Amino acid sequence: MNRTRRLRKSENIRRLVQETKLSIDDLIYPLFIEEGSGVEKEIVSMPGIKRFSLDKISKELDEVVSLNIPAVLLFGIPSEKDDIGTETWNDQGIIQQAIRFIKENYPSLYVVTDVCFCEYTSHGHCGVIHNNDVENDSTLVNLAKQAISHAQAGADMIAPSGMIDGTVAMVRESLDNTGFAELPIMAYSIKYSSAYYGPFRDAADSAPTFGDRRTYQMDPANRDEGLRKATFDDQEGADILMVKPALSYLDIVRDLKNNFDRPIACYNVSGEYAMIKAAAEKGWIDGEKVMMETLLSMKRAGADIIITYFAKEVARKLLK
Ligand code: PBG
Ligand code: ZN
Repeated sequence: MNRTRRLRKSENIRRLVQETKLSIDDLIYPLFIEEGSGVEKEIVSMPGIKRFSLDKISKELDEVVSLNIPAVLLFGIPSEKDDIGTETWNDQGIIQQAIRFIKENYPSLYVVTDVCFCEYTSHGHCGVIHNNDVENDSTLVNLAKQAISHAQAGADMIAPSGMIDGTVAMVRESLDNTGFAELPIMAYSIKYSSAYYGPFRDAADSAPTFGDRRTYQMDPANRDEGLRKATFDDQEGADILMVKPALSYLDIVRDLKNNFDRPIACYNVSGEYAMIKAAAEKGWIDGEKVMMETLLSMKRAGADIIITYFAKEVARKLLK
C-alpha cells in the first residue's frame, strides 16, 4: 500500500521533508511616513500599523533592525497635494527626507521606495489626469523625475506601482542616464484593481476622489493578460516581478515563477492583513497560526519575497 503518512510520523521527519520554509530573509516591511512632526497614529483598519512622522519613527526602525528584517518599503504622506503630484520629485519631499534619514541612521537597512502619485495628487489617481482618465505618456515623464529624485536621495531599490505602460523602460533608461545603472527596479507587474486595498487607502490618504482605477489596474478576472504584462516588464528590464494582491492571486504568483527567470515578489496587502486581524480579534481564528499559514502559502506558490505588514510579528515568531 502507498502510505504517505510514514513521512508525517514525527516532528523530526516532518522537518526533514518540509518543502517550503518561511524566513525573515523573505520579508519587506511597508512604512507610512507622514510629513510634519509629532505624528504616531494608529491606522484603525490595520491594528498594529501606524503612520509616523520622521521625528517619531526611530523606535519603529530600531525594532525593524533588531528583528533582522532586511528591507522596508516607503510610502509618503505629503502635507501638500496638487493635480500632478509635483511633491513626488521635490528633493525636500517627505520620501526624500525619509530616505536620507534612514540611510544615515540605519545604514544596514535596505530602502525600497514606492514610486507612484496617488498619495500626492488632489484627485487621488496614479498620474496626470486628462479627459477624466490617467494619461499614460505624460505620467511617464513625471515617473522618471520621481524615480531619479528617490535615487538621488539614496534609495536602494525603486518600485513603481502605478500600472502605467512603459514604466519600467522609462525608469530604467532615466536611472541609467543619471548614474544609477546599478539601482534595481521591482516592478508592480501585475497589480489588480482590487477591493483589498481599502485599508491602505485610508492609511495613505490615497483614495481616488472620482471613478476608480480600472483603466490602469488589471481586471481580477484575467490571468493571460498578467503574463503579457509581466513579459513586457521582463523585457524592459525589471529586476524583480511583483504580484499584488497576494492571497487571491496565488495562481498568478505560480505563473510568474514558472515563466520567468527573475525573483518573484508578492504583496500581502492591507485588506488581507485587516481580515486576519479582525477575525483574530473576534476570537474566530488563531491569528498567529493563520498569519504563518497564509505567508507560507505565498512562498509555496512561488514567491521569493513577501511584502507584508506582518513582517515584525513573523520575525518575532521565527526568532523564538
Ligand atoms: C498605490 C498603491 C496601492 C497600494 C500600494 N500602492 C493601492 C491602490 O491602488 O490604491 C496598496 C497596498 C495595500 O493595500 O496594502 N499605487
Ligand atoms: Zn498609485
